[in-house]
Amino acid sequence: MTKAVLGIIGGSGIYDLPGLENARDEMATSPWGAPSAPLRHGTIAGLPVVFLTRHDKGHRLSPSDINYRANIDVLKRAGVTDLISLSACGSFKEELRPGTFVLVDQFVDRTFRRESSFFGKGCVAHVSMAHPVSPRLPLHLAAAAEAEGIPFARGGTYVCIEGPQFSTLAESLTYKGQGYSVIGMTNMPEAKLAREAEICYASVAMVTDFDCWHPDHDAVTVSDIIRVLSANAEKASHLVARLARDFPREHELCPIGSDRALDSALITAPEA
Ligand code: ADE
Repeated sequence: MTKAVLGIIGGSGIYDLPGLENARDEMATSPWGAPSAPLRHGTIAGLPVVFLTRHDKGHRLSPSDINYRANIDVLKRAGVTDLISLSACGSFKEELRPGTFVLVDQFVDRTFRRESSFFGKGCVAHVSMAHPVSPRLPLHLAAAAEAEGIPFARGGTYVCIEGPQFSTLAESLTYKGQGYSVIGMTNMPEAKLAREAEICYASVAMVTDFDCWHPDHDAVTVSDIIRVLSANAEKASHLVARLARDFPREHELCPIGSDRALDSALITAPEA
């Protein structure tokens, strides 16, 4: 039996995890470089929880400058079995209004200048990303959101752009036309690296705006996002507290094998 350790990555507006008990900071190191910030270890209702703020305090790191490999590596070394990503996003759907938490189940990766694998020359691996979210986690998240009265949607496709600029109108209309649900700048390659690290991953995309496609709303600006962020951050802390309180104490094997993703992924022969 493996003990469950819950990891939380906080995005824009989430620089701390209120409710974390016995908290202590650790400046974890990684062969992949420096993570975004010190890891904050603690417990919630007895469950070990490790928190990492993605952009660092003061929002020092732009999405392209985040060392995603170091972040996932230090969380893995800290024993994290299940990882919840919290991030701000724009919405492509009328019904996904600001304040809604979308339990994403698919990603489209439009990033182009990020290190997105732990593997490469000398050791090649191809993990499956067909189902990037470990399906038990959104079930626990949905139960927690329901219990806390947080408006949420089950499932949705998150398109990850490189940024830091927001999308053009043509891009926004294209993504909407493709049927994507939300847009952000950070869930890729995070989800890919979590899979390579055999950590179960799920993303809560917290809507702050309608990007720039909506005829009744102005194109998104940072001040629009900031206006919604603090309310979303407050709800996210309740979501995490409830999730942790009710989370299984033993790691549940992932039904799609996210926690065993390398079993069938390595292609380089050990003797090569
Ligand atoms: N994060 C929050 N809103 C966003 C948007 N409209 N586009 C990209 N990232 C975002």
